[in-house]
Amino acid sequence: MDTVIDNVDYGPLAQLIGKWSGNVGLDIAPDADANPDESPFTNVITFTVAGAADNAEEQKLVAVKYHHVVRRADNGHIFHDQIGHWIYEPSSQVIMHSLTIPRGVCLLAGGTFKQTNDESIFDVKATAGSDSYGIVQSPFMLEKAKTNAFHMQMTVKHDELSYREVTSLHIYGKDFEHIDTSTLQRITYDQD
Ligand code: HEM
Repeated sequence: MDTVIDNVDYGPLAQLIGKWSGNVGLDIAPDADANPDESPFTNVITFTVAGAADNAEEQKLVAVKYHHVVRRADNGHIFHDQIGHWIYEPSSQVIMHSLTIPRGVCLLAGGTFKQTNDESIFDVKATAGSDSYGIVQSPFMLEKAKTNAFHMQMTVKHDELSYREVTSLHIYGKDFEHIDTSTLQRITYDQD
């Protein structure tokens, strides 16, 4: 696969570009009673090119931006919307993943990329309290539904993408692992 688009070499991020659709997702979300809510979902992720960036005339980065829309399988209503970037530094092979969700939570996760045969694995983490790969959240969320940590593993194999993300919350007086998993197929290769 050619990783260069408009003179920018997107490296491992190039394989993300396009529109992906999946209908086999499962959300395990907190509920005030003892049982977590389990909701099957459909989801679409669109990755488009975001160019290159130089930081402090030293750090060379490339990035793709994404929009992730998740709908309840039973009624098609949107119940999660997420935007951000996947960022790659070729010299260190560091991967960064920024995300914003409309609950008043943003984070920057950092990690690694591994290629095994024809499978690419992106693995990133963020932790509340970290000054680098950390989490920013509204006063309400800090008090009522704090995100303590986030860990995402995303695997890409040709035109199939799967992810597992674990959002560690403190909500309703206890710790809760909010887990989302899905497998998507690429439906277009559009770059922007
Ligand atoms: C496929 C991805 C995701 C889906 C489908 C999803 C869905 C949900 C659902 C259904 C709830 C229960 C409350 C409600 O009904 O609105 C919830 C709670 C929550 N989610 Fe997610 N979520 C996803 C990913 C994330 C991510 C990536 C984060 C943050 C890093 C996050 C943070 C939260 C927080 C802080 C709550 C607690 C708020 C509450 O329950 O009142 N979620 N999510």
